[in-house]
Amino acid sequence: MIQPAVYKETILFSINDVANRQEPSRVLMCSPDYFDIVDVKNVHMQGNVGQSDKALVEAQWESLKQAYDNLKAQGVLDEVSIIQGAPGCEDMVFCANQTFPWKMNDGKEVVVMSKMRHESRRREVPYFETFFKSKGFTPLHFKQVEMFEGMGDVIPHTGKQLLYGGYGHRTTAEAYEELAQMLSVPIVALELINPKFYHLDTCFVPLSADSVMLCKEAFTEKGLGMIRTLFRNVYEIPEEEAEKYFSLNAHAFQSHGVKTAILQKGSKITVDALQKEGFTIVEIDTSEFMKSGGSVFCMKMMY
Ligand code: ARG
Repeated sequence: MIQPAVYKETILFSINDVANRQEPSRVLMCSPDYFDIVDVKNVHMQGNVGQSDKALVEAQWESLKQAYDNLKAQGVLDEVSIIQGAPGCEDMVFCANQTFPWKMNDGKEVVVMSKMRHESRRREVPYFETFFKSKGFTPLHFKQVEMFEGMGDVIPHTGKQLLYGGYGHRTTAEAYEELAQMLSVPIVALELINPKFYHLDTCFVPLSADSVMLCKEAFTEKGLGMIRTLFRNVYEIPEEEAEKYFSLNAHAFQSHGVKTAILQKGSKITVDALQKEGFTIVEIDTSEFMKSGGSVFCMKMMY
C-alpha cells in the first residue's frame, strides 16, 4: 500500500501500485434561485458585479440539469439530486466546493466539510452537510485547517485511491496533511501559481488512469513533473482556450463504464482531446456562470 502521505516534490511510487477505486455514479446540483454576482472573489468576476441575467441563468442551469437527467434516463447515472439555493448564498450553485465526499478503504462513506475562503461562502456549507447526512455519509471536520474548498481543489486520479490537491488560492498546503490522515489516502499537492486558475478544477482534468488534460501555465515545474510521472499521456490545452471557455472545468467522467464529457461550447482543442480518449461530448452554454468564475465541473458534485 502507498503511504497516505502528502507528496509535494517527487513521486516515489508507481501508479500501478496504487489501489483501485470505483468511480461514483450520483450527481448533486444546487438550484440557482439566489445566484448573483455581488463581489469579486476571483479575477473572472472583475467587471461583472450586478451583470447577471436571471432568465439566462435559469435557462443555462436547466440545460445542464437536463444533460444529467438524460444520462440518468440512459442508465449512465444512478441519481440526480437537487439542493435548493438559499438566500444570502449567491455562489451556492457551485456545489463542487463546499464538501469533499469520499468512500474509505473499508467502504464507509464520509464527507469532509470545507473551510471556505470567503465569509459569504461559509454560509453554504451546512446545507451540504445536511444533504450528505441524509444520504448516510459521516461528516468529517478539520481541526486546524484555515482554507479548504472541497472538490474545487481536490480531484481524484481516475479509478485510483489517489488524490491531487491544488493549493495557493483557496486551499492551504497544510490542509492536505490533515486530509491525507483523515481519509488515509496519498495526496499529490500541486501549487497553483496563476490567478486565472484559482481552483484545481479550472486547469486539471483526469480522463483515465493513463491520461490527463491540463493547462501548464497554472502549475510549477515541480508540479508538472509529478503529474508527468503519474500519467502516461498529458494533453496540454492552450491557456487561451482554458481561460476563455473554462474548457478545463469540463466534467469528464466514467460512470458504469460509459465516458461522458459535459463542457462549455467552443472549446475546440479540448473537445479533440476528449474525443481521442473516447468521450461522448455534450456541449452546453454556461456563460452566465463563467462571469462568476465557474462552469460545468463546479456546478455539480459527484458522490
Ligand atoms: N464565484 C465562485 C467563487 O469565486 C466561483 C466558484 C467556482 N468554482 C470552481 N470550483 N471553480 O468562489
